[in-house]
Amino acid sequence: MARVRVQNFAISLDGYGAGPNQDLEHPLGVNGPELMEWFFQTRVWRQMHGQADGEAGIDNDVAALGFAGLGAWILGRNMFGPVRGPWPDNAWKGWWGDEPPYHTAVFVLTHYARPPLRMAGGTEFHFVTDGIHSALRQAIAAAGGKDVRIGGGVSTIREYLKAGLVDELHLAIRPVLLGAGEPLLTGIDLRAIGYQCDKSIAGERATHVFLRKRT
Ligand SMILES: NC(=O)c1ccc[n+]([C@@H]2O[C@H](COP(=O)([O-])OP(=O)(O)OC[C@H]3O[C@@H](n4cnc5c(N)ncnc54)[C@H](OP(=O)(O)O)[C@@H]3O)[C@@H](O)[C@H]2O)c1
Repeated sequence: MARVRVQNFAISLDGYGAGPNQDLEHPLGVNGPELMEWFFQTRVWRQMHGQADGEAGIDNDVAALGFAGLGAWILGRNMFGPVRGPWPDNAWKGWWGDEPPYHTAVFVLTHYARPPLRMAGGTEFHFVTDGIHSALRQAIAAAGGKDVRIGGGVSTIREYLKAGLVDELHLAIRPVLLGAGEPLLTGIDLRAIGYQCDKSIAGERATHVFLRKRT
């Protein structure tokens, strides 16, 4: 059965999944790139960006798992871009250029409707204005039996966790302090919702923790 997965999601030691003050210059918020240093060095990330180099190793192996077996993605509107409020036009097409790294249908949660956006390489962004359950239904249908990955950002993952809709959650815990930003787990009792820690693996630049929802 298709699983709903959060993978490769980085948090700081103090629990933030993004830094403060996201904007065009700071897609991950101020100091946010420190969260992703474990990923930026991997062969997986470098190949996604057209580079032949990059490190093999544990971080790379774990990163690769996060892209295996996926049939659709769900993103929050802030992860899709820096535009807030009503779309002024349809010019913004995501951070990722003409060929985003998804290669599937991607359902973007937003309060502001927009026509679907087809990109090179098979990515098609659909803007969903009727909530997380609708986005998940549409994603599962589009995934055709493969898994659905909730890509982020922070508030989107929080919504799906609170609703108990995430089957598997992989956190890459980075040994950095952000001090401020978007906290991932504050106020969410994962244990009460039914999550348990399956395993943790020390990678080169992050500790990978895998949680699973009890069935
Ligand atoms: N640490 C990591 O590994 C990682 C991974 C991915 C992303 N990120 C970072 O996370 C940050 C973004 O996270 P975020 O928490 O600011 O925002 P987000 O989850 O990406 O998006 C939140 C926005 O999505 C829309 N939305 C969410 N739920 C909705 C619902 N139920 N109905 C309608 N609209 C809904 C709303 O936008 P509107 O009301 O404006 O339409 C809301 O403000 C970025 O900095 C990104 O780079 C980090």
